[in-house]
Amino acid sequence: MTKRRVEGKVALVTGAAKGIGRAAALLLAKEGAHVIVTDIDDAAGRALVKEIGGKSIYLHLDVQYEREWKEAIQAILKQFEKLHILVNNAGVTGLEEGFGPQDPEHASLESWQRVHAINSDSVFLGCKYAIPVMKKSGSGSIINISSRSGLVGIPGAAAYASSKAAIRNHTKTVALYCCQQGYPIRCNSIHPAAILTPLWEPMLGTGSDRDQKIAEIAKDIPMKKMGLPEDVANAVLFLASDESSYMTGTELIIDGGILAGSAASPKKAGE
Ligand SMILES: NC(=O)c1ccc[n+]([C@@H]2O[C@H](COP(=O)([O-])OP(=O)(O)OC[C@H]3O[C@@H](n4cnc5c(N)ncnc54)[C@H](O)[C@@H]3O)[C@@H](O)[C@H]2O)c1
Repeated sequence: MTKRRVEGKVALVTGAAKGIGRAAALLLAKEGAHVIVTDIDDAAGRALVKEIGGKSIYLHLDVQYEREWKEAIQAILKQFEKLHILVNNAGVTGLEEGFGPQDPEHASLESWQRVHAINSDSVFLGCKYAIPVMKKSGSGSIINISSRSGLVGIPGAAAYASSKAAIRNHTKTVALYCCQQGYPIRCNSIHPAAILTPLWEPMLGTGSDRDQKIAEIAKDIPMKKMGLPEDVANAVLFLASDESSYMTGTELIIDGGILAGSAASPKKAGE
């Protein structure tokens, strides 16, 4: 039998109960990792651990709180003694949480700070507490889930875009810091867009126009379809595995071609 791609590694995934985090947790486990599923949705998180089986465990971890990070890392050390992979995945747009308007003119300071706490303070905390453990574990790969919104402006989701840009930049700082210190830890970011997960549900709804709405979104994507959580999970696995051993501080864009260029490209008359 061929060796699985992350055999025996200990992997912590945040926001793993649903969507991209769930797909990443399932794939890492399938490829041999002991996965620590974490989320604030305890019921869905526990159900996933049951599905994964093996040595997988569930821990409640609200990523915005430093105390919860400390407790999670302590629990992992107690059970596994090591940590090799951290997927900083949990994130919110601020739109579906009822935080109020998210454009730069009408967003409240409170909502701006809440989105940053969940999306980018969390990544700072995750890296801060993973580094000391990973450096003693022999190897480490930190994968930060940013967004296409971390690379371009989003008029209706200012805090989301800013928090995702912070993740992109902090990834590079962590990557360089670990190199500078001689730590065997890599850190990379992933920038998805238009991945069909529960995050989109408030925008798509369950009405008869749901398929129409998905088709509308797909029309503006060069590949003419939304992505799947597995499309992002495959990139997580690659960055988690030794196949990407010479990659650090990089960013992988998974967006069906959205960021490849503008639709407003020159056309011949009559085209
Ligand atoms: N789906 C997309 O199109 C898309 C595009 C770009 C970036 N992303 C990013 O990918 C990541 C995952 O997105 P998704 O689409 O799977 O979202 P999702 O809403 O489907 O799942 C997010 C998960 O995070 C959990 N979560 C929310 N707040 C949390 C907190 N404070 N602490 C811990 N867990 C928390 C939720 O319970 C849920 O299980 C997010 O960071 C998101 O910004 C998604």
